[in-house]
Amino acid sequence: METGVLHTHHLIVVVYILFIALNFIIVLLKRRNALLAIKARTRIIRIGWEVLLLGTGIFLMLKSPLGLADYILVKWITMSLGIVFFILGMKKMNALWMTLSLVMFIYTYLLGSTRNILLKPEEMRVHEAYLTETDEALQGKAIYEIACARCHGEDGKSNYRKAKKLAETSLNDDAKATFIKMGKGIMPSYSYMKDEEIQVLLKYLNQLKENSTR
Ligand code: HEC
Repeated sequence: METGVLHTHHLIVVVYILFIALNFIIVLLKRRNALLAIKARTRIIRIGWEVLLLGTGIFLMLKSPLGLADYILVKWITMSLGIVFFILGMKKMNALWMTLSLVMFIYTYLLGSTRNILLKPEEMRVHEAYLTETDEALQGKAIYEIACARCHGEDGKSNYRKAKKLAETSLNDDAKATFIKMGKGIMPSYSYMKDEEIQVLLKYLNQLKENSTR
């Protein structure tokens, strides 16, 4: 269910950004009549589209074990700004507002795919966490929170997007390591992870399991 909604949300977002880009070009070309015609013809469908965009976004946020994580909060803010700037740009036929709107939406899109306010890729953040944290427990926790918690939950008890409850798994370390390297179905493969990173991660997974049975 969540995966279907996620793909739908993604498609809605891409089409919406293309729509804004189209209006942006028309504003740049100063085609006032074309802009008014598009505005009038697409009004109802645009509002319906926005409701779908927000509806799927809210659904995913409520289902996600991360809830209103920092990057999701920022996503809401920049998306809202994007809509406000878009409305202003359309009203005034102003290229600056339209540019700002497009920048906001593209940033929001990239936030969604990197899940990081500075738009740093996950791989880079995992390697950095391994290098900067001082002991194994902290390294494992940091890597888990960057790469795994969004599906498995911070406590390893979530089954968002059909993830297995890691706090209850009966797999041994070798089987888990294979799972992490290879992935399966919705679970991504983490072939970028170095062996030493996987080792601290496995220790943390065992810690999660111990915490839950205590
Ligand atoms: C996009 C969601 C997602 C992310 C992110 C994710 N997983 Fe998974 N994980 C899944 C799903 C779905 C399954 C079940 C796959 C199956 O059996 O078909 C799973 C299964 C597993 C299993 C096997 C559990 C069992 O008992 O069979 C392990 C171990 C695991 N994940 C570890 C991790 C680790 C460690 C990370 C982070 C590096 C991670 N996962 C990130 C979705 C995810």
